[in-house]
Amino acid sequence: MTTHTLPGAPFFAYRDSDLYVEQLRLSDLADAHGTPLFVYSKASMLHALSAYQRAFAGRQAKVHYAMKANSSLAVLQVFAQAGCGFDIVSAGELARVQAAGAHASNVIFSGVGKTRAEMQTALQAGIACFNVESEAELDVLNQVALSLGKVAPVSIRVNPNVDPKTHPYISTGLKGNKFGIAHERTLQAYQHAASLAGLKVVGIDCHIGSQITTTSPYMDALDKMLDLVELIEAAGIPIHHLDFGGGLGINYNGDTPPAADALWAELLARLDKRGFGQRQLMIEPGRSLVGNAGVCVSEVQFIKPGEQKNFCIIDAAMNDLPRPAMYEAFHQIVPLKLSDAPTQVYDVVGPVCESGDWIGHDRALNAQAGDKLAVLSAGAYCMSMASNYNTRGRPAEVLVDGDTAHLIRSRETAADQMRGEHLV
Ligand code: LLP
Repeated sequence: MTTHTLPGAPFFAYRDSDLYVEQLRLSDLADAHGTPLFVYSKASMLHALSAYQRAFAGRQAKVHYAMKANSSLAVLQVFAQAGCGFDIVSAGELARVQAAGAHASNVIFSGVGKTRAEMQTALQAGIACFNVESEAELDVLNQVALSLGKVAPVSIRVNPNVDPKTHPYISTGLKGNKFGIAHERTLQAYQHAASLAGLKVVGIDCHIGSQITTTSPYMDALDKMLDLVELIEAAGIPIHHLDFGGGLGINYNGDTPPAADALWAELLARLDKRGFGQRQLMIEPGRSLVGNAGVCVSEVQFIKPGEQKNFCIIDAAMNDLPRPAMYEAFHQIVPLKLSDAPTQVYDVVGPVCESGDWIGHDRALNAQAGDKLAVLSAGAYCMSMASNYNTRGRPAEVLVDGDTAHLIRSRETAADQMRGEHLV
């Protein structure tokens, strides 16, 4: 038997001509559960987590999985059991993570637009920290906490004005972005927070963007953040924890982000050098924990030759895999069964009634109706962003652990989609 691994999908490999995930053949999973089907490798998730854990050995550091990347309950359960905390951005995410077995004391709450009701729910649950993104939010959170007779633990999200050199829609740490409090106003914001009886300052945080593939934006943001900590502490406000957000990229198309442990070796060396090595550290990675751990298996419906383009129409679409349509993102597309037959160049598209419904442009494939393909690196920001557009049920999901496949989400039915609607 020959084995050939896939760059960007470490726990997926061809054994002879069949694509496997861990010990299972993907085509068997597709036969059992239908398509489109998300398939995740548990070992791949834990492997990605272990790179952070190695980097933080001997430190006071905690990984808060940014669950927006993939919030399926069983995925959350994997990370909760592995000792992670969670970064949430809504009361819905809090309910999900609690349903997956996590304790609110391991949860931090990010986002620019928390509602009063969400603040209340999170305070009553007893979350570890609110990552506050504006001065107005400090005031509202203070009022909500006082009205409940509670004190809200807060960290202020700093906008360090560094360019993460990523897609503009997922870059968040530049002056023109809606996120965080400007570097220049941070001290004032901390002084204001410290004066409010319903708040307790516990940390500082920043998150500069997503799919970051170089170290330098992190180093720049780190230095700016430490300058601020020095300033804030000199003003008599102690900062207990430092939270550096998420953002580390993955390999979609030959991308070469630093490994998490290599990135953190550099960041920790700088923290040590500046005397902050013993601080409580937090991070909020999402994509780098789950992105390469998942694929979306889809069946070719029709081959449609055209004058300018040949189309390979598959049964997954922009509602299941929104990243190409939203960010012109590249995902590798590979067959479940290798063959020597000649390839042709196709635009791989879905059935949704939009020209923006494409999954890959100009892909060389040997594909016929009925063949199955895997869209790689689909573990992050695919199922969690999937919609019901065109009244398409969202796919089923399977989590593979060695030679065991767990159906972790049933395929959504039309009845599921109509639940909660009312005729007049
Ligand atoms: N922390 C905060 C405050 C965030 O806003 C995010 C992501 C993360 C952590 C996790 O970032 P990660 O490690 O996953 O890069 N839908 C886009 C990505 C949006 C990221 C939003 N914020 C995509 O598909 O590329």
